[in-house]
Parts: sequence; structure tokens; C-alpha cells
Amino acid sequence: MEHQAKMIVDKDFTIGEVDKRIFGSFIEHLGRAVYGGIYEPGHPSADEQGFRTDVLGLVKGLNVPIVRYPGGNFVSGYNWEDGVGPVSERPRRLELAWRTIEPNLFGLNEFMDWCKKAGTEAMMAVNLGTRGPDEARALVEYANHPSGSYLSDLRAAHGYKQPHGIRTWCLGNEMDGPWQIGAKTAAEYGRIATETAKVMKWVDPTLELVACGSSALGMPTFPEWEATVLDHTYDHVDYISLHQYYGNKNGDSANFLAQSMGMDSFINTVVATADYVQAKKRGKKKINLSFDEWNVWFHSNDADNKLDPWQIAPPQLEDVYNHEDALVVGCMLISLLKRADRVKMACIAQLVNVIAPIMTENGGAAWKQTIYYPYLHASLFGRGTALVPLITSPKYDSIDYTDVPYLEAVAVHNEELQEVTIFAVNRDLNNPLPLHVDLRSFGGCSLIEHIVLESDDLKAANTAAQPDRVAPHNKGNATVSGNEVSAKLAKASWNVIRLKINK
Ligand code: AHR
Repeated sequence: MEHQAKMIVDKDFTIGEVDKRIFGSFIEHLGRAVYGGIYEPGHPSADEQGFRTDVLGLVKGLNVPIVRYPGGNFVSGYNWEDGVGPVSERPRRLELAWRTIEPNLFGLNEFMDWCKKAGTEAMMAVNLGTRGPDEARALVEYANHPSGSYLSDLRAAHGYKQPHGIRTWCLGNEMDGPWQIGAKTAAEYGRIATETAKVMKWVDPTLELVACGSSALGMPTFPEWEATVLDHTYDHVDYISLHQYYGNKNGDSANFLAQSMGMDSFINTVVATADYVQAKKRGKKKINLSFDEWNVWFHSNDADNKLDPWQIAPPQLEDVYNHEDALVVGCMLISLLKRADRVKMACIAQLVNVIAPIMTENGGAAWKQTIYYPYLHASLFGRGTALVPLITSPKYDSIDYTDVPYLEAVAVHNEELQEVTIFAVNRDLNNPLPLHVDLRSFGGCSLIEHIVLESDDLKAANTAAQPDRVAPHNKGNATVSGNEVSAKLAKASWNVIRLKINK
């Protein structure tokens, strides 16, 4: 096959409206995500609440619509009451998920204040590991009930008269995982999630609830877990979660770049399972997907195994991301956009320091990791209607996948701004990929810019000393003639081709 890729983009071939919440992220009480990440009193940039304004600036730049909190594995042993009220009275606890000390200097109310400053919304998780419906309904009462009850008045006494109005809630975290505090079988989890959902919605009927799906595509119980859990929870929840991380432990970059094909099939299988349960229940409601943990995660595994336990905010899960990681993140973002019809929320895990696009030094600098950039571009330019990517591309075989297209791409039509944006990864590690795009139904278009993230070194990374070693430029070679776009995508590159639709 000729080494050239073709793509047809037609405004009538729609996948669905992109829910902005697919560009969400995650802050867990883990490592230096909270302490030393978003919160560091005494840091030169800290505001009056101890929030790092340098980090807030980088978060705001990403236009993050929703942030999941407080875990993750952490939530399965967490008492939310430990994190509210006078800070001097809050207990220090042994935190069993990550074997650290949790000082509880930061909790629900601080997080909600931080969200306001970051211009984002909270996605809260309740503890279904060591706890259950009683604590979950109490937390909803504390967080969302206006006033006139013990817990809503307690919130007011803590200085928060106005309810927080948190709409989106996760019913536990990765409850299928043996590593989880209080892990459960699908039937056990299905029952407790149902009873918890019922009382949470009785306190606040406006809530949207996420049931735990499998904690990875490779779990032995996938997808039977989803079928059983939804069989129990179908009437009470709105979303089912997916989590997936990829890594390149074997140093096989071509195979690493192909991994998002697994993400595609993960999403498709969960959609099929949710629809199977809907059919079985003769239900009217579609259960949508919350891909609320996704990223590359493997660089820090060995270092984490060597950490001493029971430290406060040790440097855990501090992956330093390189160029090829950014390409995988780009492919994963394209996977989410390709199922914008059903994936309504997604959280890159996580936001700061812990497997994150933003890194900090305690007391020092904050900078953008390589993966910051595809996430930034998708969040800024991926809002609108996702269009079916009709692609012809040369392909390759890798250890895990056959027929891997060199071109991974999707387009989003922003009707309001009259723009079309093409997101494209050239998976070819050695050669540029000529790309021809037929924008048939759009009439004439003109190029706004062609952003490219490329590097001669797949392993190049950004560090405090070299924060801009890998950074995008907008000097890509795309040209537009009428409704045809031509470009030569650099080898191993992430591309954002932004087009204005001519009137
Ligand atoms: O994001 C890091 C961890 O990965 C989360 O705590 C957990 O849910 C997942 O296994």
C-alpha cells in the first residue's frame, strides 16, 4: 500500500456532541498531588489558603471541566469527617492504600474552594471499601443539603453556609481489585452500590452517580463484572466507570503506540454490556461511560517499591513523561473522542505530580510534562461535535495488535466558532506520513494553524532544569485548498490542524 493516509470528514457523519467533562482530571490524596502539588502553604506562590497559584495557573490553562476527588484507592479507607472542621482538631491517620500518613490538613471544603479558584467542578467519590450507605448519605447531606439538618448546619458552622452542590459522585473505586481496601465480588458490590445510590439520591435527587466498572481491561472478571454490577444498579446509576493505564516496560515503542486500540475495544465492550443490561431490563435509560482514570503509568513503579512507608506526601507515582508517552496520551484522547456518543466523562489520572501533566518541586518550580500538550489541545479545541473518522491508512503489526493504522485521527466540528479541528497522531516512528483530508460538506476552509508536537528523541522529557525540551510549535506544513487539506505528518508526531469554515 502507498505510504499515504486519507481521511474523509463530513459534517453530517456525526458521532455525537462532545461532553466537555471528557477533559476532566483527578486529584487523589496520594503522594504529592495535594500536599506539595495543589496545596503548599509557605510556597512563594501560595495564596492565603495555601493553594499554589503557579499550579492553579497551569490548571486553568488546561480549562479542566471536572476533577475527581479524593481517590482512587485512598477513598476506600477514608473518613470524610477527618477532613472537615478546625484543622488543629483533624486526626493524622495511617493511610493503608498507599502506606503513608494522611495529615488531613486539606479536605472537602478546601477542595471545593480550590475548584472554584481553578474554574472547575468536583466529581466526588464515596468510600464503599470500609464504609457504606450511612456515611455516603451523611456526606451528601453535609455537602449538598441547604440547611436545617445536623450535617448541613455543621457545614455552615465550619464556615460554608452555602451548599457545595456537588452533582457527580462515584460509588467507590475499583471495587473489583484485590488491592482495594474492602474489595468485593460483583454481586456484593452491586448490592451495596444500589443501596448507597438509593439513599444518596433520597438526600439529593439531582445527583448523577457512577458505578464502578472493571479497574482495567485485563481484569479476569471483565466484562462479567459490568453485567452483574449493572444488573443490580441499572435503575439507580447513570454511568459505569472504566480505568486503564498503559506502559512501555519492554521498550517496544511501536507496540506501545498501538495500545489505544485496546482502549477502543474496552469502550466498545462496555457500551455493548451496558446496552445488553438495558435490553434485559427492557429499560429506557442508556448507561453512559465515565472513563475516570486513564493515562500512561509505569516509569515510577520501581522507585515506588523502594519507598519507606508512613511518610507524609512522599514522591509516589512520579512518572517523568517523554515524547512517546505524549503520543500515547494523544491516541487515548482520540479514542475518547471517537466514542463521544457514550463516553460522557473522563479523567486523565492524575493532575499534579502523581502520574500527571503538571509537575512541581516542593518550594520550587512548576512545569508542564510532555503529556500536558495533547491534553491541552484536546481540551481547548476538542469541544463541539465529534465526526466519524473515515480513514484509509497504511498499517503495521505489533506484538499485541495487528493492522495498527499509522494514522490515528478524529475531527471535531465546533459549529459556534465555525471551526473544524483534526487531531492526528502519526504512529510511524521512522517516516513522515502524507495525509490528505477531504472536507467534502464543509465548503471552503482556511487554515488557522497546524500545531505539531515532535521530537527527534522519543525518550526526551521535560524537567525542572529543561521545562521546554518537548513543546509544540505551530509551524506544521498543512495546506488547504477549498475543502481539501494536505499535510505531511512528521514521524512520531501529534498534530492539531485547526480550520476555519469560510462563510
Ligand atoms: O491513579 C492511581 C491509582 O490507580 C488510583 O488510586 C486507583 O484507582 C488506580 O488503581
